[in-house]
Amino acid sequence: MYDTHCHLNDKKYENNLSQIITNYEQNGIEKVICVGFDFESSVLAQKIAKENSSVYFSVGIHPENVADYDEQKLIALLDSDDKKMVALGEIGLDYHYTQDNKEKQKEVFVKQIKLAKKYKLPIIVHCRDAYGDCLEILKENAPYQYGGVMHCFGGSTEWAKEVVKLNFKISFAGSVTFNNAKNLQDVAKALDIQYMLVETDSPYLCPKRGIQNEPKYVQDVAIFIAKLKGFDSEQFINIVDKNALNLFQKLKN
Ligand code: NI
Repeated sequence: MYDTHCHLNDKKYENNLSQIITNYEQNGIEKVICVGFDFESSVLAQKIAKENSSVYFSVGIHPENVADYDEQKLIALLDSDDKKMVALGEIGLDYHYTQDNKEKQKEVFVKQIKLAKKYKLPIIVHCRDAYGDCLEILKENAPYQYGGVMHCFGGSTEWAKEVVKLNFKISFAGSVTFNNAKNLQDVAKALDIQYMLVETDSPYLCPKRGIQNEPKYVQDVAIFIAKLKGFDSEQFINIVDKNALNLFQKLKN
């Protein structure tokens, strides 16, 4: 199966990256998407993908890093036209720690949505404590011919049902398995499986609490949701993998 969102480019993996990759490959994870969150991590994601056949990548500037947004540098990366560059992201809005740069966050989000369209890429959207503004921007900038995904979803069922109409998938991370995640589990139960993806967002949000997350644990997320929805886990994994291939076309490369 696939891990559609991880950060092999995170500093936490600096010293044991090849071990982490071996771990997931030995656990039957065929492909992963290493997601950029600022310029340097996007460059690194591309490098890791070049060196490892199972790694694909995306480039983008996360809302926490918008102060350094340099469109020309991002365009240079996009222009590399790499066949393993599956998406633009992660981009979006995050008002959790910072609310004094909302306008800048929105501006950079919209600019990157436009770039994704120009480069015919789906978008990977990060949203935290900003669901109202996020939906407004997504609606204003529709349609999304190449689709998108709400990664590590933390919103409501109503919100999810609105955004899937815009050609978006909803991706669940290890957070759905937590004891206090009743609301999120309700979203996973209510949502049609055709709209679902799974991911680890590793090294964050381990489904096994207290240890560092790795892509190899993506199966735990899938098995948990399959059980929740009354699906056979193998069948569930087949469907979410197909969903991932439909959205991230270059994963077929
Ligand atoms: Ni992430």
